[in-house]
Amino acid sequence: MRLGVNIDHVATLRQVRGTCYPDPVDAARICARAGAHGITVHLREDRRHIQDRDVARLAAERVLPLNLEMANAPEIVAVTLRLKPDEVCLVPERRQELTTEGGLDAAGQRAALEPTVRALRDAGIVVSLFIAPDPRQIDAAVALGAPCIELHTGTYCEAHGAEADAELVRLIDGARIAHAAGLQVNAGHGINLQNLPGILRMPHLDTLNIGHSIIARAVFTGLHEAVAEMLRGMGEGVRSE
Ligand code: PXP
Repeated sequence: MRLGVNIDHVATLRQVRGTCYPDPVDAARICARAGAHGITVHLREDRRHIQDRDVARLAAERVLPLNLEMANAPEIVAVTLRLKPDEVCLVPERRQELTTEGGLDAAGQRAALEPTVRALRDAGIVVSLFIAPDPRQIDAAVALGAPCIELHTGTYCEAHGAEADAELVRLIDGARIAHAAGLQVNAGHGINLQNLPGILRMPHLDTLNIGHSIIARAVFTGLHEAVAEMLRGMGEGVRSE
């Protein structure tokens, strides 16, 4: 299983002071040295953390394969087609939200998503859709020709008791349905070392995209160790510093 480290909040720390550090490209290099398999960033319409130049440098230096999370907004699509990340994950976006709040309504927004998915695929970019583990949304991903989905684990990660158990069943079923339909299954949002064992019960997982908990942990342990801890939790190999 692969780990994609979301390094948005390295840029958050830079943006709050308007400095040139900490640099997300330096963070990507540390993640690579620790054994991570990919880098994820979210180019938000309000540019609150990651900036266009970060995406350009991460795509050009290609320290690790780059997965760009983005809204289906014309301006962002244009930037993405120019910068050509390896992968794109289409997410819903609201300006007021603290982080991505729900899955993409791929079924309801099929007409609007079709040209974007086609343009990204024609540019050689792997397209993923960030969706809830809902069979309707999985069917829509197949119909749109996206080869990949990222199942939204945020609801599970925030739930407790019976609610968490029920959501985990939905995630497990969703992963099975998506895999049977030929989709690559990724997962992300809200994953930390405490809820990771539940997440690992999902079958057919290709990649976990994890950000906030790793960067938060890195404040105390350093980024190399925070990535290494997550890889060990996933049962994956770690590289020593
Ligand atoms: N996957 C997607 C689609 C996201 O929007 C985010 C948050 O940017 C993540 C994964 C990472 O979530 P977290 O920061 O909670 O680990």
